[in-house]
Amino acid sequence: MTTNFDELLAALRAYLESCGADPVVAGFLADIDWTMPARALESKAIASSSLLDRTISLTSDATRPLAVALAERGGELRWGQTYTAADFGQHFIDNYGWVELFGTRGHFVNETVAAGFLVLGPGIEYPDHHHLAEELYIPLTGGTEWRRGDEAFRLRAAGELVHHASNVSHAMRTGDGPLLALYLWRGGPLAAKSTVTGAIEQAKG
Ligand SMILES: [Fe+2]
Repeated sequence: MTTNFDELLAALRAYLESCGADPVVAGFLADIDWTMPARALESKAIASSSLLDRTISLTSDATRPLAVALAERGGELRWGQTYTAADFGQHFIDNYGWVELFGTRGHFVNETVAAGFLVLGPGIEYPDHHHLAEELYIPLTGGTEWRRGDEAFRLRAAGELVHHASNVSHAMRTGDGPLLALYLWRGGPLAAKSTVTGAIEQAKG
């Protein structure tokens, strides 16, 4: 059985277009051909499936519809993990997952732009990493600190745009609640594994 994710794709598109006044968002939108065919993928559960539901209360009015649309389909999507416990420890793996909605391996076929969602549980640090593709993150929940390049960690609100140019290092640190973020990649290999340069600095309870 294949699941129809058209509504989730429409919710992602509507949200992105609502941010289209921003030049970075507009640049990504210009590269997205929305007539993308579906790709049949087996569902694969996220390590902690309860995380998605918990993200809803941390959304803003603007980001909530997309988070709800994702949570409604959360159990049917193919969630992935780039890392293993050997990279960042079992606690990270139990509190981390992403799903590509469209791209070279996602639920819809797109060879130019990839888009999906990242989930991190509370008290998680995703150390410094970088990749060739240009990336736009839009956290759908508030409460997570983000670092770009050599900047200090900054608390980002739900709906803030976090733009990483090609090969710019970035890291995230969640607070008491989980993170749900929309991501977009373009301009590099869309299924590349990030190069990790950071290490988890402190044990998280
Ligand atoms: Fe990234």
